[in-house]
This record gives sequence, structure tokens and C-alpha cells, in this order.
Amino acid sequence: SQRPLVDSFGRHVTYLRVSVTDRCDFRCTYCMSEDMVFLPKSEVLSFEEIREVIGAFVRRGVRKVRLTGGEPLVRRDIIKLIEAISADHLATGQIDELTLTTNGSQLAKHAVRLVELGMKRINVSLDTLDADKFAAITRRGRLDQVLDGIRAAREAGLAVKLNMVAIKGVNENEIVPMMEWAHSNGMELTLIEEMPLGEVSADRSDTHLSLRTVRDRLAERYTLTPIAKRTGGPARYMQIAETSGTIGFITPLSHNFCESCNRVRLTCTGQLYMCLGQDDKVDLRAAMRDSGPAGLDAALDRAMILKPKGHDFVIERRSAPAVERHMSVTGG
Ligand code: GTP
Ligand code: 5AD
Ligand code: SF4
Repeated sequence: SQRPLVDSFGRHVTYLRVSVTDRCDFRCTYCMSEDMVFLPKSEVLSFEEIREVIGAFVRRGVRKVRLTGGEPLVRRDIIKLIEAISADHLATGQIDELTLTTNGSQLAKHAVRLVELGMKRINVSLDTLDADKFAAITRRGRLDQVLDGIRAAREAGLAVKLNMVAIKGVNENEIVPMMEWAHSNGMELTLIEEMPLGEVSADRSDTHLSLRTVRDRLAERYTLTPIAKRTGGPARYMQIAETSGTIGFITPLSHNFCESCNRVRLTCTGQLYMCLGQDDKVDLRAAMRDSGPAGLDAALDRAMILKPKGHDFVIERRSAPAVERHMSVTGG
């Protein structure tokens, strides 16, 4: 069926985020615990199943597909999946954008091929330019490897947007240098407020930083002008006159943006989560295995009814996470 996907609040779902693996080669402190246990590979959707789900969404009006993880580029043969999605939907003009969010560790070897497959821009997570701090935040990552990946992406012609989680007392003093570095290298920077997803070792009330404060502090040194630019994601963008670059703010806590939410999230096991900050979900794998394409399509209708109005994140001292699943399950 061709009916658009509209939820009970009148919001159109046009953006599908697909987590292709829960695994990651890093263990960022705000994302994972040190001893994360990953899913057995037998529970993970095959490429054929992922294609089938994406196809069902595209027929119902999805125009933007973003691959996430875990780390999407650590899934074996990931390029084969990207080739298939690109041929199915991008080459045919059925979608406007196929992209990914990556930690950059495997980017150097894949950047050229991603461009050949029609990718125009990617988002790379980078919280610091200090090698020791990078090692401390990611626990397993090496900064030079990610910087090599970013360089390769730029050389291949990809536009790069850096995602920086603002962490109080850890990288808040690096926001300005990071922005200067990003802008002088032709990249954008988006700051993200930490969200209470999954049990991690740190108490998030110690590290949570409101981006409202950050923006006010930036405004003391720079001229910030809000711009209308939208990427289909939740960021709101400002132009910085002094650097001629843009900075994005993703502020789930200090400024909730749920009323314009246009997206849903497929996990690597075929669960469709209707909100990053809620547990409502539909088992698309079961629907697909039990009743084929018609079952899958009917499951999308059920999902739209379930989509909640928004998250209810709060950060309080020693509070339990708002949702128990980790960010790596739903891919941000
Ligand atoms: P663009 O296409 O560049 O707009 O990307 P995006 O912001 O949609 O994707 P990206 O993967 O870069 O997302 C950055 C982060 O924004 C995610 O990892 C999440 O932390 C946060 N985010 C994205 N969508 C939502 C959402 O619907 N709700 C909340 N609370 N956070 C979100
Ligand atoms: N809060 C906010 N952002 C997070 N990310 C991972 N965990 C969290 C969290 N708890 C970010 C990563 C990456 C994106 C996919 O999500 O840094 O940029
Ligand atoms: Fe991996 Fe991204 Fe989570 Fe870091 S934030 S552990 S890079 S999935």
C-alpha cells in the first residue's frame, strides 16, 4: 500500500534510522558499560531482511535512511548492504538521502566507496581533539585513526558533520577549539546533550551539561544567528559570523523537539522503536517471518498508533536511566 505513515499526533514519518549492528569497537563512557554483552549474531537481521524492511518503509513515504549502530562500519560486508540500498532506492530517486553516523574508526578504508554509492555527507562522532581524553572517553579508540578517517572522507568529497556530546568537566572547555577546528576545515559541528539511556558507570547528573548555557557562553565571544536550515534531524542550527561556519544544537533536555519528530528506529534484531526515549516498539521481524510483506505493512500501521508524543527524559542524581536499553541498540 502507498499510504503515508502518519501517527496519531499528525506527524509524518519520513526518516528511518537503521541500526545494522549493536557492536562497536569503542566503549564510550556515556554510551556503554565497560563489559557490554553483545547479541549473538544469529539474532541479527540478515541483509535481505533489512532490505525488505527498508523497502516497506520507502513504499510508505520514507525519504531519508541513516545507518547507525553500534558502529555501522564494523558489520561484516556492510558495503554490500549499502550497495543494495543504494541501487534499490537512491539510484531510483525513491529516497533523497542515504547516509550514516559513524565513530570514524573504519572510515579511511570505506570513504571512496561510500561516495561512489551516492553518499553526500556523513556524521562522525568526535568529542575531543585531545588524544588522552579521546582514549579516556572511548576507552578503546585511537584519535589519530579517527582523524585519518575524517581526512579520507573529506578527500573523497563527503561533507562531514561532527557530533560532539557535551560532557561537563570533560570536554566543555573544548567546544570552542573544536568549533574553530571544524569550521576552518570546512566541517560543521553539532553539539548533543547527554541523554539518560542505558546503565553506564558514571552518574549522569555529574556530567550533564545544558546546551542553553553553552550557547549563552558562545554568544559572549561570537555572533550567533539562528538559521532556518533543516537536515531532517533534530538539530537547530546557528550561523557563526566570525568563522562563517554553522553549529547545531541537539537539546532533548533543555529544549524538547518532539513535536516535529519525523523518525523511527529499526534495531539490528528487527524491533521498531517509535521514540529514542520510550519503550514502545513493534516486532517487525516476527511480522515479516510470520506473514510476509502484507504482515510487515500491517505492522507499520500498528507502529504509527504506538508512536508516543515524546520522551520524558530527566537527569537527576543517581536516577535510573529513563530507558534501560543502551544508545547502541537504537543507534541514537
Ligand atoms: P542529520 O541528518 O545531520 O540531521 O542527522 P541526525 O541528527 O538526524 O543524526 P545523527 O545520527 O547525527 O544524530 C545525532 C544525535 O541526535 C543522535 O545520536 C541522538 O543523540 C540525537 N537524536 C537524533 N534523533 C533524536 C530524537 O528523535 N530524539 C532525541 N532525543 N535525540 C535524537
Ligand atoms: N546521550 C547523547 N548522545 C549519545 N551518544 C551516545 N550515547 C549518548 C547519550 N547517552 C551519541 C554518540 C554519537 C551518536 C550516535 O550518539 O556520541 O554521536
Ligand atoms: Fe560506539 Fe558510538 Fe557508543 Fe561510542 S557512542 S561506544 S562509538 S556506538
